[in-house]
Amino acid sequence: MIKESVQAFPISKVRQDFPILHQEVYGKPLVYFDNAASSQKPKVVIDAISDYYNQINSNIHRGVHFLSQQATDAYEAARETIRKHLNAEKSHEIIYTKGTTDGINLVASSLGQGLIKSGDEILVSQLEHHSNIVPWQMLCERSGAVLKVIPINERGELIQAEFEKLLSAKTKLLAVNHISNAMGTINPIKEMIQKAHEYGAWVLIDGAQSVPHMAVDVQDLDADFYTFSGHKLFGPTGVGVLYGKEKLLEMMPPYQGGGEMIAEVSFEKTTYAGLPHKFEAGTPNIAGGIVLAKAIDYVNQIGLDAIGAYENELLHYGTQRLKSQFPDLRIIGEAENKASVISFLLGDIHPYDVGVILDKLGVAVRTGHHCAQPIMQHYGINGTIRASFAFYNTKSEIDQMIDALDRAHNMLA
Ligand code: ALA
Repeated sequence: MIKESVQAFPISKVRQDFPILHQEVYGKPLVYFDNAASSQKPKVVIDAISDYYNQINSNIHRGVHFLSQQATDAYEAARETIRKHLNAEKSHEIIYTKGTTDGINLVASSLGQGLIKSGDEILVSQLEHHSNIVPWQMLCERSGAVLKVIPINERGELIQAEFEKLLSAKTKLLAVNHISNAMGTINPIKEMIQKAHEYGAWVLIDGAQSVPHMAVDVQDLDADFYTFSGHKLFGPTGVGVLYGKEKLLEMMPPYQGGGEMIAEVSFEKTTYAGLPHKFEAGTPNIAGGIVLAKAIDYVNQIGLDAIGAYENELLHYGTQRLKSQFPDLRIIGEAENKASVISFLLGDIHPYDVGVILDKLGVAVRTGHHCAQPIMQHYGINGTIRASFAFYNTKSEIDQMIDALDRAHNMLA
């Protein structure tokens, strides 16, 4: 079944859409396997950025003039595209942010203004990126709330029995990722959300690594907050999205003060704008928001199911090739349900040394702790070599990586 869908995947056409892929680095064809850090952009996205600045650049929501109205309409139409993509109920539940980190900080900062109190508990997991740990630690320091951590097993999966033991009437918030950036573990978030809700806790999902690879339906998941970044979803940097349920966003105080987020300002009393503007102080990344919708349209044209099936094939091919080629290779994170990320160690060679040689052979991977040091602490390592695939990658690129690893292995082992 998977084979058929892979054969049908229009890889040659897709690759034509990404100009950056067709170049050599150090005289070798570029193989870009750092998609979990940031993905490449199709031409429609790149063109949409210059179209915006060539045709309608203007500030939004405030101008009576033609360009301002054009830009406002495009920005709000993009919000509606994002709403549909996440299947949110209302477009004012979609808040534009700078990215996933900004979305998490928005929620932590706002809940920290009296909605999370001393003695409350916040649950995160050992699988989190630092951006889904540190804002909660800061909130705990300010409020006296307590941070609890869901442990992982050796495969890099959250231990569900331990999660259930940590839940109690004190649990105010569960903050977990949908997919681990460092290892690719896909978490059973729908079930976890349901369990957290049984205790009355709110749930924030870090979707930075999931939205580029799978369809997400926030109503079906019943997520209270879901946040992601534009630049991992084949869109621009500096723009992202926080979805929040209307009733929670209504109850939460603003994050930042400034223009746009107010209804009325006087020195005696300032009142705030309604959603979504209450959380969107200042001139936003207008081009970024508009162009993010173009990236979403592009991905939907290909289809996230087809993308997921193709990437799954790359994951299995890459895993098998790595394991059979290098007996001393250790994969870090072998969850049963896994996205197209392979984190590994080659013997006892330092990941950075491998990364440098791979780079000289045209292969871009990430090395290090991937902003997820607690995972590395769990495995007793400093970091890994991480290859993360997108739907424009190919098996022959994986072969090029294997050849490059072979060279690195011979030189360094
Ligand atoms: N969070 C990004 C990564 O995983 C930067 O590489």
